[in-house]
Amino acid sequence: MTSLIEQAARRLEQLRNAGAQIPDRIPTSQAPPSLSQAAVAVAAPLISTPPVKHAVAPSQTSRQVTLDLDMLSAAGVVTPNAPRSYSADQFRLIKRPLLANAKAKGDQALKHGNLIMVTSSLSGEGKSFTSLNLAMSIAMELDNTVMLVDADVARPSILRMLGLQTMPGLLDVLEGGKDLHSVLLKTNIDKLTILPSGTSRPKATELLASDAMRRLLDDMAARYPDRIIIFDSPPLLLTTESRVLATQMGQVVMVVQADRTLQSDVDHALSTIKNCANINLVLNKVRGSGSDGYSYGYGYGYGEPSGNATA
Ligand SMILES: Nc1ncnc2c1ncn2[C@@H]1O[C@H](COP(=O)(O)OP(=O)(O)O)[C@@H](O)[C@H]1O
Ligand SMILES: [Mg+2]
Repeated sequence: MTSLIEQAARRLEQLRNAGAQIPDRIPTSQAPPSLSQAAVAVAAPLISTPPVKHAVAPSQTSRQVTLDLDMLSAAGVVTPNAPRSYSADQFRLIKRPLLANAKAKGDQALKHGNLIMVTSSLSGEGKSFTSLNLAMSIAMELDNTVMLVDADVARPSILRMLGLQTMPGLLDVLEGGKDLHSVLLKTNIDKLTILPSGTSRPKATELLASDAMRRLLDDMAARYPDRIIIFDSPPLLLTTESRVLATQMGQVVMVVQADRTLQSDVDHALSTIKNCANINLVLNKVRGSGSDGYSYGYGYGYGEPSGNATA
């Protein structure tokens, strides 16, 4: 899978091929950051330097990373630098019911309502892209803090999408005895914290269905009741652990890739999580309506006719 940095670099190349006058380097201070400028600002250093450029503070208890927001918005991710994009509008629609459920009180309250799992039937449907955008979009609101957890431990991609190196995280908490706080990454978006997937190990996915994970989720829900915690998770049809994980979440977002995922796969995946309280479907990569040929459509709720979801 290509990283967002590579995508930004490719977009830069496309702009050049289309005849845009783009110098090899421009000062990053040039403003405002239009799409093409952002792509240049990000992609140009790649020509001569490796893509790892975000320093991690040495302290073991509060690690801080700096996200390259221009690079991310050039790659189509919602950021505070581009708050009015087409994607930003789509994610505003997607997050609204999730936030309402997370904050519901009294009779309406969901157990672990602030724990939101993003999954899909198969890989490549857009779970990580959706998780990141959702986390960004929620973190941009005044009232919400967000933790983005890379729980797709066999195929982690959140740090790579952000241009960051692998770091300790979830797996090190579950099996390595590390304290959660010591592996959380604070970012230059005040309200966004990241929990990396951590040091890879055999049978990592099995840990998602372990007692240690269940205890961690209880602990997170209790320790951070006001925080929205988004889990980028493995696909439902490829791992049984993902189904176990879903039962511990207050809400599930199932991403369906338009024109690719088969109706039967969607139905099968939904049947594996039918006991979960709140399932939302997001139709991804609907061609044609976004400026770049891709867009998000916010799906129908669980239980409605699903004929419009798949090819
Ligand atoms: N709506 C979208 N617009 C543009 N690119 C997308 C979109 N959704 C996914 N992608 C890209 O498609 C690829 C697969 O998405 P990804 O989120 O990694 O899938 P998954 O996590 O389900 O395996 C990635 O390169 C991602 O950046
Ligand atoms: Mg992924």
